[in-house]
Amino acid sequence: MSIIKDLEKDIYDLIKKAGYEVENFILKPSDRPDLGDYQINDSMTLAKIYHKNPKQIAQDIKEKLELDDRFTNINIAGPGFINITLSNSFLIHAVNRINQDFYNNIDKQEYKKIILDYGGANVSKALHVGHLRSANIGEALKRLANLLGCKAISDAHLGDYGRPLGLVLLEIQKRYPDLEYFDSNYEGDYEKVPLPITNEDLEKIYPIASQKAKENTEYLEEARIMTLKIQNHEKGIYDLWKKVVNISKDAIKKVYDMLNVSYDLWNGESDATPYVPELLKICETHKVVSESDGAKIIEVKKAEESSPMPPLLLVKSNGTISYETTDLATIIQRKKEINPDEIWYLADERQSLHFEQVFRATKKANLINPKVNLEYIGFGTMNGTDGKPFKTRDGGIMSLKSLIEMVKEETKKRINYDIVTQDKVEQTVDIIAIATLKYADFIPYRTTDYIFNPAKFSDVEGKTGPYLLYSTIRMKSLLEHAKEIKQETYHILEDESSRNIILTLLRLPSVLTKSFKIKSLNEIAEYLYILTNKYNKFYMENKILIETNHNLQESWLVLTNIVYRMNLLLLDVLGIKVPEKM
Ligand code: ARG
Repeated sequence: MSIIKDLEKDIYDLIKKAGYEVENFILKPSDRPDLGDYQINDSMTLAKIYHKNPKQIAQDIKEKLELDDRFTNINIAGPGFINITLSNSFLIHAVNRINQDFYNNIDKQEYKKIILDYGGANVSKALHVGHLRSANIGEALKRLANLLGCKAISDAHLGDYGRPLGLVLLEIQKRYPDLEYFDSNYEGDYEKVPLPITNEDLEKIYPIASQKAKENTEYLEEARIMTLKIQNHEKGIYDLWKKVVNISKDAIKKVYDMLNVSYDLWNGESDATPYVPELLKICETHKVVSESDGAKIIEVKKAEESSPMPPLLLVKSNGTISYETTDLATIIQRKKEINPDEIWYLADERQSLHFEQVFRATKKANLINPKVNLEYIGFGTMNGTDGKPFKTRDGGIMSLKSLIEMVKEETKKRINYDIVTQDKVEQTVDIIAIATLKYADFIPYRTTDYIFNPAKFSDVEGKTGPYLLYSTIRMKSLLEHAKEIKQETYHILEDESSRNIILTLLRLPSVLTKSFKIKSLNEIAEYLYILTNKYNKFYMENKILIETNHNLQESWLVLTNIVYRMNLLLLDVLGIKVPEKM
């Protein structure tokens, strides 16, 4: 349990001793740091309950608090606000407690098994800007949930089963009609049939095929038939599909590796298809399916609702299933294979309707225990300076790879080539560029749009990834220079800068808890910046390495060590790596 939570419990008891009982007692960091570190605002509420003057209540509480030497400068302001300052001896004790184990200052959350479905990559399509936020936020939420004592399981849920694949396979057929995959009389082993196509080819094929389908209804119809062949596991076609999926999956893995995003499960929409018959049966049993123009649908609109809510398309009239159906079947699959308490879906705001339909249909057909929380976690878009989703110069969709390249170019301008040796340049640039991109993505609240500005994001002096990395490396370097000096115990607290760092450390648990609750990393990103800033001020003010008071020097090093490790921990939660040098 965190230090502040412990303190809250003790203060609650002291207030009780004064004769009052507070519901949900919470210590509030002071709005007026000149009056105290924390404030207690409960006298006003208690006044109504106990029919007493709030000032009198504040006075009664103050008397009890004064008996406890952890508090100093207890004063009453306004109608009955109590300001308290934490004593330095208490703060010294707090530092040693944190130094012993960070879990001494983290509030674990109620244990839950959570599946996080993020990334959203689609097989044979290049990852684009929109996929960045899903992967970035999802990965960090997974890490945060694990840190706070939950069990988070990540699933890539690759888009590998819908029409796009039909289009890609059709276009391959148009280009290479003689390939054995298209010959159902072929007797040999399809596994051994080479495929003259690379991932780069695939990424180019999809936009071409998709354009053709828009312009030509016959082509579109052929693509539909191809999709059906894939879904019917037709000989040859299904083998080709498997190959295409594997080529693309390898390429997708490389991009996610680069982003420091990893998955426990690499399932795709197709992996849920064995559960489709069961899904259809459950839907029939619960009588939630209706027919519409030869298709099977589930009505999900509520009677009292006036806004549009189209039905969920379960099986199309041509017999193919769509994205909605695989999502429903995946819920059955996850229930059977993992039995989660929650499932979180990260996809951009344009998919909110899709998830609403899926969740409603799930409830209607009773696919999973209603206690299982299905949650859609949307996010805003990364925009260009024109305020519209970031595009390439010719107005096309910007691929994630090109975006990363742009940031790398900025990074290359700024690393110190005297320090980073030639053999480390590439790796260092990669790490910094990803940190730059990721940190900038966390700064705004999750659902807020933001403008892509590589020069600003890369500035070592701003609220940026590189600033945090640079500062963290400097802490490490200081600790390395001091490695012969004892760094065990925190003894002395005299300077204001150290005090501010410690008060910031005490705020950590509430930041983590809030981030977890709102499922946005902006609080942690901001906290890292504040902590690092406070540390840098302290670093500038004190000549740590040449300090002659050994106890003071040891204390400063212990504090440095804590902030350093805290930065590593929180950067890791954000999925950001730290280079050796920069
Ligand atoms: N592949 C989808 C897309 O790119 C996102 C998948 C999100 N997850 C899900 N279970 N539907 O739009």
